[in-house]
Amino acid sequence: PVRTPLSIAVDGPSGSGKSSVSKAVARSLGLAYLDTGAMYRAATLWVVREGVDFDDQSAVAAAVRAMPLVQTLDPVDPGVALAGQDVAEAIRSEDVTRVVSRVATNLDVRAELRRRQREIIDGETRPGGYSAGRGIVAEGRDITTVVAPDADVRILLTASEESRLARRSLEVRGTADAESVAAMRDQVLRRDRDDSTVTEFTVAADGVVTLDSSDLDFDQTVAAALQIVSRAAHVR
Ligand code: DC
Repeated sequence: PVRTPLSIAVDGPSGSGKSSVSKAVARSLGLAYLDTGAMYRAATLWVVREGVDFDDQSAVAAAVRAMPLVQTLDPVDPGVALAGQDVAEAIRSEDVTRVVSRVATNLDVRAELRRRQREIIDGETRPGGYSAGRGIVAEGRDITTVVAPDADVRILLTASEESRLARRSLEVRGTADAESVAAMRDQVLRRDRDDSTVTEFTVAADGVVTLDSSDLDFDQTVAAALQIVSRAAHVR
């Protein structure tokens, strides 16, 4: 058995497999799962729906501070609701993906979402917290470094550009043929470049274990992540 409550932080670029691997790790260990990217996506959708001008940084931040976002932390079916409406699918739309970096690079938005993330993580990892669960896997871009540098286990999931593009293409277009990979290329690389202006998710910080999934299939990557967890969390 691993130490409980257990906190696991996972960061990585898009297409690294971070969400599916994190969910599988949470499932396997019976932990809650927090997708922080979903929070930036929900914030983007909220800003659009509220009709706030993207260029008005302080209006964007004010809208996000008032955002009625509720997430459920079930790794099998993570729920995302805005003002009581299920937006789990809407936040994955092309329209949101295209502009999410603009909201995610707003520093006041980041401060607000980090505060909410910390509250959720603490609730799941402190005995007596609002759910007092076995712990949580939280994933994103700045979880190992800024949101939860104190996590029991911290993993940076990386993959070569080639395999990241192939995975994203498969995920979004259902195929990884040369044409769709090429079509994904600009968007994925631009988003990573924009995101990396406010978060460092390509080099592991001190004490963060790098897991390179380029040559691993999904099950192998999950197994490797679980091995890192058991090593770091003192399985007896
Ligand atoms: O992982 P994702 O593609 O769902 O993330 C959506 C966006 O949010 C992405 O552009 C990066 C940003 N993000 C961030 O800046 N910090 C996080 N902790 C998580 C996501």
